Amino acid sequence: MAKKVQFVETVLRDANQSLIATRLPYDKFEPMLETIDKAGYYAAECWGGATFDVCLRYLHEDPWERLRKIRAKMPNTKLQMLLRGQNVLGYSHYPDDFVKLFVTKAVENGMDVIRIFDALNDVKNLKVAMEATNKAGAIASGTISYTTSPVHTQKKYVEMVKELKEMGAKTICIKDMAGIMGPKEAYDLVSAIKDAVDLPIDLHTHSTTGLAFMTYLKAVEAGVDIIDTAISPFSGGTSQPATETMAYALRQLGYEVDLDDACTKKIADYFKGVRDEYIKDGTLMPKSLTTDTQCLTYQVPGGMLSNLLSQLKQMNALDRFDEALLETPKVRADLGYPPLVTPTSQMVGVQAVRNVLDGERYKTVSKEIKAYCRGEYGTTPAPINPEIQKKILGDEKPITGRYADTLEPVVDKTRKQLEGVARSDEDVLSYIAFPNLAEKFFQERKEKEENTATYSIVEA
Ligand code: CO
Repeated sequence: MAKKVQFVETVLRDANQSLIATRLPYDKFEPMLETIDKAGYYAAECWGGATFDVCLRYLHEDPWERLRKIRAKMPNTKLQMLLRGQNVLGYSHYPDDFVKLFVTKAVENGMDVIRIFDALNDVKNLKVAMEATNKAGAIASGTISYTTSPVHTQKKYVEMVKELKEMGAKTICIKDMAGIMGPKEAYDLVSAIKDAVDLPIDLHTHSTTGLAFMTYLKAVEAGVDIIDTAISPFSGGTSQPATETMAYALRQLGYEVDLDDACTKKIADYFKGVRDEYIKDGTLMPKSLTTDTQCLTYQVPGGMLSNLLSQLKQMNALDRFDEALLETPKVRADLGYPPLVTPTSQMVGVQAVRNVLDGERYKTVSKEIKAYCRGEYGTTPAPINPEIQKKILGDEKPITGRYADTLEPVVDKTRKQLEGVARSDEDVLSYIAFPNLAEKFFQERKEKEENTATYSIVEA
């Protein structure tokens, strides 16, 4: 029997995030939800830290309401979200009571698959979220943040996968956020994982460097079960490879693909129009759609390059770009080779710029880097350079256990604090994740309702 390959559609989350900074409002994709639901995807990825943030910050949408609306229009397809382990949606670790309630409420509001990753691949940062996901009855997808370094060996990844399985992972995701995984690496790693555990494997990559189609093909040959793709108008460049193209190629090679071509065509036709609007207003920039092989050379993900540029521009120091670029991998090595993903990518990038502009390395460090050196983000893949750690921490001793164990519960306290303001636990969770944004959102929501109320009275 032909081996089946399943697809995760990313247009609602990663493609939207990678190409247009997550600016797609609900109304823009709503007309296609029923079609996406009928298309035969394994899952539709629709939520994550950035979606949540942008909903509250720019789109004046309640992210929970968005989720419920998507769920109502898509009863047949699994909804999937990306969760930053103990960081949940944010940039630092949260107490366990928040992690548990967040996962429980996400599932209650309609989430089926929770892809849980940690920026350091420290599995103790995944444990609580993973257990909560299983308890809530959703699929816990244990995730490897894929990177290359002298300490990131295939053996280590396989060991991690075994630990994830032990912790209750129902599927394994290899998350190549920078699009640096080549076809050979994909073939070898997927084969090794398949030998080690009997769990479905999902591969997630980006087209940034142009490797992605080849990488997916070799991963499929090695037995990968699920691939993440974006409907063609929102594919390529910093986004995922195109759904329809992968489906076409895989069918030609004899694999079974359950996608309905009439549906994917309808979705593509619709999103072409949406894409063109964002090209016209400048949100979608041509460079996001091109192939950029720089990160194969510098090991700096595409998103980080644009962050470096904008930081230097703000400081009027664009001429120092080459130095900052060379400094970035050095900072990463000093810090024990963290994978470059939120939040480590931002932390490393900012530090590289500081080191160059200060003319002395680690003369100034952010509070995040300091916390990192204290062990507040978990165990680093390799030890932090001891000299640098000493320079940053002085005589302070880093912690070795799980940082969240030192954090006081936050949920009940916040419930009390928000009495009369928060209308649900979902509101409380939004507030803990993004206090300022949520507060502003609650205020706007109230004003909007008061205005509508007055208006309807006048109208009546
Ligand atoms: Co991604």
